[in-house]
Amino acid sequence: MKGIILAGGHSTRLYPVTRSISKQLLGVYDKPMVYYPLTTLMMAGVTEFLIITRPDESELFKRLLGDGSHWGLSIVYAIQDQPRGLADAFIVGEKFVDGDPVALILGDNIFYGEGLRQIIRQPSEQADGACVFAYYVNDPERYGVVDFDTDGRVLNLEEKPKVPKSSYAVTGLYFYDSQVCDIVKDLEPSARGELEITSVNNVYLDAGQLRVEVFGRGIAWLDTGTHKALLDASNFVATIEHRQGLKIACPEEIAYRLGLIDEEQLLHLAHAMAATEYAEYLTRLVQQERRYLSF
Ligand code: G1P
Repeated sequence: MKGIILAGGHSTRLYPVTRSISKQLLGVYDKPMVYYPLTTLMMAGVTEFLIITRPDESELFKRLLGDGSHWGLSIVYAIQDQPRGLADAFIVGEKFVDGDPVALILGDNIFYGEGLRQIIRQPSEQADGACVFAYYVNDPERYGVVDFDTDGRVLNLEEKPKVPKSSYAVTGLYFYDSQVCDIVKDLEPSARGELEITSVNNVYLDAGQLRVEVFGRGIAWLDTGTHKALLDASNFVATIEHRQGLKIACPEEIAYRLGLIDEEQLLHLAHAMAATEYAEYLTRLVQQERRYLSF
């Protein structure tokens, strides 16, 4: 399965911070925001990535992530000149997808929690249909909302409904089979002029090919849409990392634990981080017993 990280858009709600730099490059505690969705997909088993950015931001992402080979990955880039909606990722990325199943993750979505890897591994191994994730929130009207019947069957999906039928928001992590690019080509823009990902999910739902998995209370899906939410996300990461001495969303560590890079490569990456706590952390990893630590 391939993976697309959508990191375009203007993030005007975070002005002036995002006037000159993309939101997905801002720090969330000790690492750039885009590391979080990148590592989420790495944990789902993705090693081939397309990063979609604004035209003026592409070079910055390349400087940060390169071609991914240092992490045992392949990373290529594409440009979205206008924000035309999330589903536009499959028009911009059609050549990259090239008829394969593909995961899409929004570049500002942060997921964390016990069992996350097991939950997201499964859809990445499934060849047919689509899988999305629902999460109970206190402000569902800000999101795509999924309604279930009493047996847990999906009744409908609505994009930012004024009166939400449930409290379950659809998160920014989506798994699709090879039909997705063709489905998007037939979509009409919504009232706000965007190709909505919710419309794509509704096509799969109508065809009886949509799975909705619920992320339970043990999973954190953090918001980064406001200054306060961004600070809360940083504090959340800092709290867990200080308590455990383990990092969240460290691509070098995950690449190492997945066997994508070896000890020598990890030490080389540590060296490139200069005299930082991050470098010390990477160096310490080679001395630890791999099997005792999850990620
Ligand atoms: C988008 C989607 C929405 C989804 C949300 C998750 O909203 O349109 O369905 O619930 O991402 O973050 P947007 O980020 O465009 O407000």
